[in-house]
Amino acid sequence: MKALVLSGGTGSRLRPITHTAAKQLVPVANKPVLFYGIESLVAAGITDIGIVVGDTEAEIRAAVGDGSRFGARVSYLPQARPLGLAHAVLIARDWLGDDDFVMYLGDNFVVGGITELVEEFRATRPDARILLTKVDDPSAFGVAELDPDGAVLRLEEKPSAPRSDLALVGVYLFTSAVHEAVRSITPSARGELEITDAIQWLVEDGRSVCSTVISGYWKDTGNVTDMLEVNRTVLEAMPPAVLGTVDADSELVGRVRVEEGASVVRSRIVGPAVIGAGSVVRDSYIGPSTSVADGCLISDSEVEFSIVLDGSRIEGVGRIEGSLIGRTVRVTGAARAPRAHRLVLGDHSQVQITP
Ligand code: TTP
Repeated sequence: MKALVLSGGTGSRLRPITHTAAKQLVPVANKPVLFYGIESLVAAGITDIGIVVGDTEAEIRAAVGDGSRFGARVSYLPQARPLGLAHAVLIARDWLGDDDFVMYLGDNFVVGGITELVEEFRATRPDARILLTKVDDPSAFGVAELDPDGAVLRLEEKPSAPRSDLALVGVYLFTSAVHEAVRSITPSARGELEITDAIQWLVEDGRSVCSTVISGYWKDTGNVTDMLEVNRTVLEAMPPAVLGTVDADSELVGRVRVEEGASVVRSRIVGPAVIGAGSVVRDSYIGPSTSVADGCLISDSEVEFSIVLDGSRIEGVGRIEGSLIGRTVRVTGAARAPRAHRLVLGDHSQVQITP
């Protein structure tokens, strides 16, 4: 069995981060979200992994390499444009051959892994098995309608009048029957070859399409709110450790991880939180559910429920909450009058200012 991991796409919901970086590499508890997916595939015994890549191919290649660090063999499958999840299957046809495969969306996060599902699929081999989870706002997702026995009757992408509250999770299991389906469908109104249409084609063609409703935790990290939420969940299970230095005037409360070469000076950190290698936290408060990546400086500031990426500096700004801060960003207090906000923001940035 192989795995097709989708790591192309546009990432418009995570702009401006995705103007310069792949969304699949945004770290959750200081580890790229994509790595959690690859690890759960390897844990399920799938080591032949094809990663579909787009504009951010170089960055994904640099991070994942040949896969040997995960115990996997990784091939890269360039997709010229993000023309849809079913299009990714189409371009991977030769690499996949006639093997069964898991399709895994590289920005999705499934707590508890997929080992049981893969074993069940291997034992029963329906043409497709989809994963579903109950959501509050089904019209934002692919939605499935099931018969009373759980067989899939119909799938719809982002329906305005959803027929159930069961959303498709970004992990799909297929036999080679899906290739005929992706060749047979036409682009949707938004111009993409939809995987929901391909699965619907299988249903209408009389193929076996099963579903598993997962009760565990799943998130698509495609937007900032979900990204922060996944970060919170992962940090809650992180083993605490102090590998760097914490001075006598500082206090760590709860699950806190201070990586090698990091230093905490005259500060209070309330976990779960991680301070990345070589970062400095000085005269500051770091609150729960915060990941500070490597080589950052947090000084005279308070940061809570946030993700701060590599090499950023936050100095003298009071409190920051619910924020995703990119790489080598500088957020500083204005020392002189007039008291005004001075901003240099990239395209599609979002800022909320307390007057
Ligand atoms: P999405 O999050 O559905 O799409 P997107 O990346 O274009 O994001 P946005 O809606 O914010 O613009 O994609 C799910 C995953 O699949 C994600 O890891 C990107 C990947 N993908 C591809 O590899 N190729 C594609 O053609 C598409 C649409 C997505």
